[in-house]
Amino acid sequence: MTRTFPAGFLWGASTAPHQIEGNNTNSDFWANEGRMPGMDFSGDAVDSYHRFEEDMELLAEAGLNAYRFGIEWARIEPRPGQISKAELAHYRRMIDAAWRHGLTPVVTLHHFTNPKWFADEGGWLGGTAVRRFHAYVDAATQILEGVPWVCTINEPNMLAMMTSMSRTAADPDAGEAWQSPTVEDSPRPQLPAPDPEIGRILIEAHHAVRDLVRQRTGAAVGWTVANRAFQARPGSEEKMKELGYIWEDLYLEGARGDDFIGVQSYSSQWVSESGVEPHPPHPDNTLTGNAYRPDALGIAVRHTWEVTGGVQILVTENGIATSDDARRIAYIDEALDHLAEAIADGIDVRGYLHWSALDNYEWGHWGPTFGLIAVERETFQRRPKPSLAWLGGTARTNGAGAAR
Ligand code: FCB
Repeated sequence: MTRTFPAGFLWGASTAPHQIEGNNTNSDFWANEGRMPGMDFSGDAVDSYHRFEEDMELLAEAGLNAYRFGIEWARIEPRPGQISKAELAHYRRMIDAAWRHGLTPVVTLHHFTNPKWFADEGGWLGGTAVRRFHAYVDAATQILEGVPWVCTINEPNMLAMMTSMSRTAADPDAGEAWQSPTVEDSPRPQLPAPDPEIGRILIEAHHAVRDLVRQRTGAAVGWTVANRAFQARPGSEEKMKELGYIWEDLYLEGARGDDFIGVQSYSSQWVSESGVEPHPPHPDNTLTGNAYRPDALGIAVRHTWEVTGGVQILVTENGIATSDDARRIAYIDEALDHLAEAIADGIDVRGYLHWSALDNYEWGHWGPTFGLIAVERETFQRRPKPSLAWLGGTARTNGAGAAR
């Protein structure tokens, strides 16, 4: 199939600070690691804090033209109101390095992790949350000049779910620490639904910083929503609408008036009268226990376009946890077909950023490998996988495809 993508399309890969940097010791996630059975520690992660230049070089040499990465609140503001100039300078060096390598930087301000002090203060449920987040972003804007795309909060719907789980945050030993499921957990346990009250706080926080970032930097500002590509079992259309609102649409509606929205899609999920159906165990399931559904991206993009009322889209995450890289290539190739079809139908999509650049710390587990690049965790040696060259080749032809 010939597929066409708009001129200037962004082709890249995504990461998040806590998952790749290492030693994010002032964060709440770090404090929770190891607390739940079977949970791994992030430790040095893949030391991208020191090796970001090498990582960017690999992406650029392969042919990609964009890199989505995050800046870490817990590093920038290690104590309330105390802003680290050195950490701001570090992230500015990353932005400059991205440009130097020909990668358009897409910068995320908040990717799941909070400073530990913020969590102790009550986190997103504490009365100070919006003010604290605004103050952090205010400081961060000092280094964001010239960054064309800024994502405020990553997956606010998943963040709301995690916050619901640990709502007893005031007592750090109570409540459950959230961790990403693995295939051993199949069928995946039902996730507790995110509380819309928490969602509304996150929307308020997002809107508060959206205007600030726009005014200070001129960046296009949006947030990135986890899309579960729900599909209704016959007769369960109403149930799907109800759950779809709680899981996604509230957050998609919160993106109306934004400059863009990030679509993050991995799999699709059935909804029946009993709720969201867990993915049953299946040999094709990914290493996070998800059904293999490259078509989910098309569903996600179309749904997002419809609910936001036509907000411009960047695919900020799409990927597969697998140890079989040929399968990763097949997954991306098929997902891109579905994306191209949506674009041909008139949906305004500006980029595809694959999750993830590197195998990384998948929120409690080292097992699920999503990377285009493998990392030897003792030496930190990077080993690009064939999928990196493949996606880079696709980028060079603006999506026309590379030989599989
Ligand atoms: C998303 C997260 C990202 C990563 C992928 C697999 O929910 O944004 O950090 O864990 O899933």
